[in-house]
Amino acid sequence: MNKQIAQSIAAVLNQQLSVNEIEQLLEKPRTIELGDVAFPCFTLAKTWKKSPVSIATELASQLTSDSIQRVQSVGGYVNIFLNQQKVTQQVLSKILHEKQLYGTNQSSKGSVVLDFSSPNIAKPFSMGHLRSTVIGNALANIAEKNGYQAIRVNHLGDWGTQFGKLIVAYQRWGNKEAITASPIEELLKIYVKFHEEAEQDPALNELARAAFKALEDGDAEALALWQWFRDVSLVEFQTIYQLLGIDFDAFTGEAFYNDKMTSVVTELKTKGLLVESDGAYVVEMEEMPPCLITKTDGATLYATRDLAAAFYRQQHYQPEKIFYVVGNEQSLHFKQLFQVIEKMGYAWAADLQHVPFGMMLKDGKKMSTRKGKVVLLADVLEEAIATAKRNIEEKNPRLPNKEQIAQQVGVGAVIFNDLKYHRLNDIEFSIEQMMNFEGETGPYVQYTYARICSILEKVENPSQHVTFMPLGEQAWPIILLLEQFPKVVATAFEQADPSQLAKFALQLARLLNKYYAQHKILTDDAQQASRLALCSCVAIVLKELLALLGIESPENM
Ligand code: ARG
Repeated sequence: MNKQIAQSIAAVLNQQLSVNEIEQLLEKPRTIELGDVAFPCFTLAKTWKKSPVSIATELASQLTSDSIQRVQSVGGYVNIFLNQQKVTQQVLSKILHEKQLYGTNQSSKGSVVLDFSSPNIAKPFSMGHLRSTVIGNALANIAEKNGYQAIRVNHLGDWGTQFGKLIVAYQRWGNKEAITASPIEELLKIYVKFHEEAEQDPALNELARAAFKALEDGDAEALALWQWFRDVSLVEFQTIYQLLGIDFDAFTGEAFYNDKMTSVVTELKTKGLLVESDGAYVVEMEEMPPCLITKTDGATLYATRDLAAAFYRQQHYQPEKIFYVVGNEQSLHFKQLFQVIEKMGYAWAADLQHVPFGMMLKDGKKMSTRKGKVVLLADVLEEAIATAKRNIEEKNPRLPNKEQIAQQVGVGAVIFNDLKYHRLNDIEFSIEQMMNFEGETGPYVQYTYARICSILEKVENPSQHVTFMPLGEQAWPIILLLEQFPKVVATAFEQADPSQLAKFALQLARLLNKYYAQHKILTDDAQQASRLALCSCVAIVLKELLALLGIESPENM
């Protein structure tokens, strides 16, 4: 719509500003009474050395187009009222025709890699990992909607000195049956015990170092244990991914790069970037601490493996971009990583992007390990699902598929709660709040969708060929919002910001509920077809929004 208007303005201006420049300048008037779109004339006034008011007046008198109803000049602005009939027709028939493909960018683009979730083996799946999982998956969906192929990569923390400790701990206190029954809980227990015991008996640390060395040297027993820890942990992680409905293209964790680091380290050396520092090797950085590449004993680090991973992904997937969806606290790590690659002379360093996010708080405090006591994600999901189940029993006990719907609502609540604020904000975790059917929640959006479905169920599918009528004051903002959807899909990707879609969904649901409160949908009058079409379009877009966020939309709840 803005593009069409910009074109009309460009024509009146004899192309003195490009359509793009004009589109950039277009604004939304402060209130809907002032118009639907406004064009400020202050920039032009400067170049033309004329008053903005006179430019606006002149422009207003000349501007016409099919989709424009009337134009008004107010204090240097050209305020445009759209032709509601035309726009309603355009927007609704487009959505009814394209259905869930509305807003999809169909020009095929390359691929993007998204590194997200990436929990650590033998450790509980933390709230930070939940955030990464939910944000990363939404971004992947949004990338696909924008025409990219999304490659979802799980960079598991499956290598590092902690595995030496775990091996020693297992050999001392491990219980095979217990671990098989409840892997992460038990592995965490012996890991915590290791640290307690090592305080009394520092020799344990030496043993752990030796065990990790054995692992790195390919010792069969150490490797078998490591493989087992990894396998059982993954099984547990998979149940979480299944619940969240997330599939990865690759579980290439840190260990995957064990044999892929030498070439990168050698290249650093030949390019003269590797500097010795007390027996260790580092790359010097501009404006930040040096990036440690190998330790004194020659061992590699997290950063070394990330360096190898970046090269591997670049060669293997040839992506347009790589996103790293990882908490704020690793910002320095990624800055260093990207700068190392830049220093090596690779232009694609510019295509690497850290997508940081804030913390999950409970009662204003960081939610995390308290002496081995952690908030388990699996428990949180379970609690959310149980709450959804109670709500259903209370409000709609005869609902079929209660279990499935409780799961969709409970999980949806957790995901939406995470995505509704900009990712850099810390978020408060409260099951009651995220489940509130009247609040700004996932269940509220899902409920709005289900409500529309139950209306539409009663009638035949609305035809896309009717002539739609404007539906009045309360429907117009809905049409305008629906029209914006493709644009929001694009900016949500450009800014790696799924919250724009969550906010859009809330706004759309709110507007629809307001409309619904004032208008009977099913009354057999001349406007019924148009009202149904409006509801149908809102349902299509709500469902698509939820899907992009990674949330299901039950038709009954
Ligand atoms: N496993 C890491 C952690 O839990 C996150 C890994 C993120 N991805 C990466 N390529 N470094 O902190």
